[in-house]
Amino acid sequence: MSVIEINSLTKHFSGKKFSGEKIKALEKVSFNVGNGEIFGLLGPNGAGKTTLVKILLGITFATAGSAKIFDKPVTNVNVKRKVGYLPENHRFPNYLTGEQVIDYFGKLSGLKKSDLDKTTYKYLKMVGMDEWGTTKIKKYSKGMMQRLGLAQAMISNPDLIFLDEPTDGVDPIGRKEIRDVLLDLKNQGKTIFLNSHLLSEIELICDKVAILNKGELVKVGSVEDITTTGNKYIFTTGDLSEEIMNKILIEYKGTLHGKNEFECTINSIEEVNKVIDYLRTANVLIHGFSKEKNSLESMFINLIEQKN
Ligand SMILES: Nc1ncnc2c1ncn2[C@@H]1O[C@H](COP(=O)(O)OP(=O)(O)OP(=O)(O)O)[C@@H](O)[C@H]1O
Ligand SMILES: [Mg+2]
Repeated sequence: MSVIEINSLTKHFSGKKFSGEKIKALEKVSFNVGNGEIFGLLGPNGAGKTTLVKILLGITFATAGSAKIFDKPVTNVNVKRKVGYLPENHRFPNYLTGEQVIDYFGKLSGLKKSDLDKTTYKYLKMVGMDEWGTTKIKKYSKGMMQRLGLAQAMISNPDLIFLDEPTDGVDPIGRKEIRDVLLDLKNQGKTIFLNSHLLSEIELICDKVAILNKGELVKVGSVEDITTTGNKYIFTTGDLSEEIMNKILIEYKGTLHGKNEFECTINSIEEVNKVIDYLRTANVLIHGFSKEKNSLESMFINLIEQKN
C-alpha cells in the first residue's frame, strides 16, 4: 500500500526572478512512498525538496497535480493527525526548557496533561535528551536542538514522519544515534520521509530514494537499483600465476588490475560461481569478491551534472 501518492505535482511561485520568469519549484513530479519505508528525497539547494514536503503537509498549495496521504487529499484534517514534522531550521522560543517544548507540541496534538509526563520523557529518552529536559534550550547545542526537534516530530505517535534535514549540525555519533531511532521507528511500522544532503547517510538508511533537480524528478528507485552499475564483479585474490591470468583474460573476458585483482562482467550468479570454482581448483586464495557499485554520492553528482 502506498502511504504517499504524488501525481504530476507542480508548484510555480509568483515571485519573479530578475529575468521575469516564474520560479518553477516543482515540475510534474510523480512518485509513491510505500508503507513502512524510509524514503529519502535528495537534491541540490533549491531543488524543491522543502516545497514538496510543505505541499504534503498542507502548508503551501500545489499549482497543479495531486498529492494524497493515506489515500486522502493532503488537506484532510484526519490525515494531519497521523503526521509528524521536523521542519528545516526550526526555531522554538529559547526561554523554554526541552520538556516544555515537547509538552507544548504534545498539547497541540491533543495529548492530555496526565499522559504528557510519561510521554514527554519517553521521547526525550529516545533521542538521548532525557537528562536535559529541565535545561533551557538557549543552552542547547545545534545537535541537541535537532534531537529535540526529532522528539517533537514523534510526540503524537504519528504513522508518517517528515524530517527536513534531521541530522543537520549533528556530530557523527549523534547521527548514528538518530539513524538508530529512525530504524526503530521503521521497525514499529512507521513510514519516514527524509530530506537530506547527506548522501552517505541516505545510502545507509533509506529503502528508496528520489532525486530532484531544479524541480524535476531525475530518478526514483531503491538505493540498490540506483547504485548498482551493471554486472561487473571484482575479485581480490592471492598471487595469480601467468597461466591463471591468461585463462581469466581469454576464457572469462576479465580485466586484470595487477596480480591480485581482476574484474569480469558476468550475467548470472551461476557464472560467478563457475569463476570461483575455477579459482579454487587452481588453488587461488580468494580474499573477496563483490558486485561493483557506485556510491550514491557519485551517482548523484553524475546525474545532476548531466542535467546542468
Ligand atoms: N515562498 C517562496 N516564494 C518564492 N520562491 C520560493 C518560495 N519557497 C521556495 N521558493 C523557491 O523554490 C525553489 C525550491 O526551494 P526549496 O526550498 O523547496 O528547495 P530545497 O530543495 O528545499 O533547497 P535546500 O536544499 O536549500 O533546503 C527555490 O528556487 C526557492 O527559491
Ligand atoms: Mg530545503
